[in-house]
Amino acid sequence: MTEKKIPVILDGDPGHDDAIAWVVAASDPRFDIRAITTVAGNQTLAKVTYNARRIATLLKLDCEVAAGREVPMCADLIIAPNYHGESGLDGPRLPEPKMPESELSAVELMAKVLRESEEKVVIIATGPQTNVGALLVSHPELKEKIALISTMGGGLRNGNWTTSAEFNILVDPESAYIEYHSGAPLQMCGLDVTEKAQIFPEEWEKIRAIGNPVARTVAEWLDFFFIHLKELGWEGATLHDPCAVLSLIYPEVFDIRDYYVDIDLCGRYTRGATVPDYTGVSGQKPNCKAVMGLDRERFVEILAECCRKFDGWEEF
Ligand code: RIB
Ligand code: CA
Repeated sequence: MTEKKIPVILDGDPGHDDAIAWVVAASDPRFDIRAITTVAGNQTLAKVTYNARRIATLLKLDCEVAAGREVPMCADLIIAPNYHGESGLDGPRLPEPKMPESELSAVELMAKVLRESEEKVVIIATGPQTNVGALLVSHPELKEKIALISTMGGGLRNGNWTTSAEFNILVDPESAYIEYHSGAPLQMCGLDVTEKAQIFPEEWEKIRAIGNPVARTVAEWLDFFFIHLKELGWEGATLHDPCAVLSLIYPEVFDIRDYYVDIDLCGRYTRGATVPDYTGVSGQKPNCKAVMGLDRERFVEILAECCRKFDGWEEF
């Protein structure tokens, strides 16, 4: 019996690790990618949207690509050229986009996909949660059509942009607050798991050796993404966003727990922190599945297996 396909919306700020997450999603026949929506974060909205259209072209995805909001809900935009470069996806050459930017906004496209889908839809959100927050505020009636929001964001023990806050949540804490208080089914891949989800240079050399155009591009994205991480002392490239995809299809590879998590909006030094209640002291029921760990070696093996699925693809 054919496995039931999972309708998916990919929302992100590509971004090298978003791009690799989308390679993983595109490689798995269980995913039916219904739409791509972009959000300002790693780079400006125009740059990440152009990148999203190029990635969709590389992966031969037949779906609309819609741009989200230029800026966070209540904050000034922060971008990350130090990690992702001026284009937001520096490094390898990519094909020019074959599809135009959708005439719909990201929220309008998300709402259209949710409204028209017979099954509930998974939203994989790997950038600031601006579009998701706007969707939940403007279309509360569509929350029931969301099977799960699988996010990369936050960190229950530390941040990576400030001591307390991880980049995606810090860029737009208000949208994250709306999301974590919405009651929508939520899975959080924070730094607790994504900083463990490292791939080491000798491992992505094996991905480069796979040799097809997509595997080679993934290796070259990692070449660039590792430049700044190495300067910071990391021994491997932290594959943040692919965790939000792989934890959906290989949950047995991950350590997933139920926690109540809240978002700090106003701390002088802690704004954007994802604050857990590990013991139930808040009296709140868990509002998310927090992914806390993984089998790193298996994770890297699966990534390589995903890249092999593009064998036989013609050069671009
Ligand atoms: O903190 C890591 C997250 O911020 C990743 O999603 C990366 O792409 C950036 O968006
Ligand atoms: Ca991202």
